[in-house]
Amino acid sequence: MYATVLTIHSWLRWVTLILALTATANAFRQHDGPASPLPGRWWDTCLMLAVDLQVLFGLVLYFGLSPFTQIAMEDFGAAVRDPAMRFWAIEHALAMFAAVVLVRTGRVLAMNATSAVSARRRRLTCFALATVLMLAAIPWPGLANGRPLLR
Ligand code: HEM
Repeated sequence: MYATVLTIHSWLRWVTLILALTATANAFRQHDGPASPLPGRWWDTCLMLAVDLQVLFGLVLYFGLSPFTQIAMEDFGAAVRDPAMRFWAIEHALAMFAAVVLVRTGRVLAMNATSAVSARRRRLTCFALATVLMLAAIPWPGLANGRPLLR
């Protein structure tokens, strides 16, 4: 079960990253005005779905399956002092949550903007920041907590 969920979470990272880059590129597009729908909204929806799924599998790992977070939860104070444990117990989860909140916020702020310029800027800024956060919080090979690119 642990291996299956970890593999899904690992592969879904690629789908999420591709959608994050595509939705950010789409957010560059000019908007006709606040009365018309945001261009390429479909990409936003796909990105939200992907990050929501990642959070779901991440929560299952975090609270149920991961031996790292299980050990961390036995003594959270000690986990915070250990960089490897801290990465899984705090840094990865928090950064990814922040990225998900940014995606949702960008979308809502853009939909409620009063001008096309601010709608475009809000969506673009939030999606770009979310993408950078996700890229920064992924355990890339070679890093201290590195994991394989393809599990
Ligand atoms: C967009 C969101 C996310 C992305 C792109 C992402 C990406 C990843 C990747 C690439 C791995 C390594 C998989 C492997 O070992 O091959 C991983 C592991 C993990 N992630 Fe996430 N993650 C996300 C969100 C979350 C969230 C929100 C949580 C917690 C609530 C979380 C908790 C974990 C845990 C506990 C592990 C595994 C630790 C272990 O090996 O036991 N992830 N994640």
